[in-house]
Amino acid sequence: MRVLGIAGSPRRGGNTDLLLDEVMKGATSQGAEVKTIILNDLKITPCQHCDACRKTGRCQIEDDMQLVYRELAQADRVVLASPVQFMGLTAQMKAMIDRCQALWARKYLLKIPPLDSIKERKGLFISVGGQKIANLFEPSLATVKTLFKILDITYAGELVFPGIDEKGAIAKHPDALHQAFLTGQKLAADF
Ligand SMILES: Cc1cc2nc3c(=O)[nH]c(=O)nc-3n(C[C@H](O)[C@H](O)[C@H](O)COP(=O)(O)O)c2cc1C
Repeated sequence: MRVLGIAGSPRRGGNTDLLLDEVMKGATSQGAEVKTIILNDLKITPCQHCDACRKTGRCQIEDDMQLVYRELAQADRVVLASPVQFMGLTAQMKAMIDRCQALWARKYLLKIPPLDSIKERKGLFISVGGQKIANLFEPSLATVKTLFKILDITYAGELVFPGIDEKGAIAKHPDALHQAFLTGQKLAADF
């Protein structure tokens, strides 16, 4: 059982990082092998819509996204963590997701599995936002669910907290980090 965490915040040790860490600790406690990718440390060029992937099923941009494709293929569980920025995902997370257009081309145009190895995968979404408004997470959720669908990753749910703004504020929430740990346990155990 391999759990891949993908951190989309530019802020290290911030709220989504803390939640992601707890999910990964929960998964580790169930014996899972975990790996976290920090998107802000990678060089991922935004999709150029060159359409090369429509013929080859492969993105021709040779940057750190090639590593992300490999990690996605190896994962049994994928945990995406991104705070809300301007009502959506961070630019780092959106750039990674847009580059999965190559995997869309594999599946829908070339009729081959989107990820190299065929596995029963599940995906979780983690988010926080500073505001407390209805539908705060809806735009992000729409994008994340679309990605998981394209990658044949079963949606396992979300862990989202509104009204969390200052760095580390999530640690003051009565049970958010505990919920995250339990969610990580369940994600890894539910195999
Ligand atoms: C560029 C930027 C845009 C943001 N836009 C929103 C927003 O539209 N809605 C919201 O509720 N919070 C917004 N926030 C606040 C963050 O979601 C909030 O500070 C969050 O706790 C950051 O999480 P992190 O520590 O994991 O990075 C924004 C923050 C930044 C830096």
